[in-house]
Amino acid sequence: METSQIKIRRALPADLDEIDRIEKEAFPDPWETHIFEEALYLFPTTFFVATKDRKVVGFVLSGTEFTGEETYGHICNLAVEKRIQKKGIGRMLVQRVEHEFLIMCASGIQLEVRLSNKNAHKFYSKLGYRDVFQIARYYANGEDALVMIKWFRF
Ligand SMILES: CC(C)(COP(=O)(O)OP(=O)(O)OC[C@H]1O[C@@H](n2cnc3c(N)ncnc32)[C@H](O)[C@@H]1OP(=O)(O)O)[C@@H](O)C(=O)NCCC(=O)NCCS
Repeated sequence: METSQIKIRRALPADLDEIDRIEKEAFPDPWETHIFEEALYLFPTTFFVATKDRKVVGFVLSGTEFTGEETYGHICNLAVEKRIQKKGIGRMLVQRVEHEFLIMCASGIQLEVRLSNKNAHKFYSKLGYRDVFQIARYYANGEDALVMIKWFRF
């Protein structure tokens, strides 16, 4: 598969069923559908899908945080359909989000990843995200989160 076959565009309400399907395939504790609906309402400009032949094959959901002084992007959820992982689609989705936050002059992008999710950790490390600290019992099952950040400051 060539990455030229993949298109990245903003998510639409009509994509939610497919997003839900990919989420359920990717995570043992998937988000409920209404969370994606609310996220699309709150963050329509930073919620993207990857499509192949017009079918949704991946998504990334991110939001904006303002500390009072600085703006940060926050990647909240990301998944690519299992059968076409490791073909560059995750990278394309994250790069699209990074582009959006660079335009907003954000200081960087933050995300949380489960300590046990070694694959996602390797993926984000490859894309330039660095470990910053851990949050104890961040997830519902009591697992800790690792916070990773990519700074845009030079
Ligand atoms: C994490 C995820 C989104 C990555 O998407 P992907 O399309 O497979 O990733 P890409 O093909 O764009 O990979 C980009 C780089 O990361 C590396 N990478 C991706 N998955 C990796 C893995 N499991 N182990 C090691 N490296 C990995 C790739 O090798 C590639 O590096 P390269 O260009 O030097 O070869 C995907 O594996 C997924 O959906 N996982 C399940 C859901 C999940 O864990 N989401 C993250 C929650 S925080």
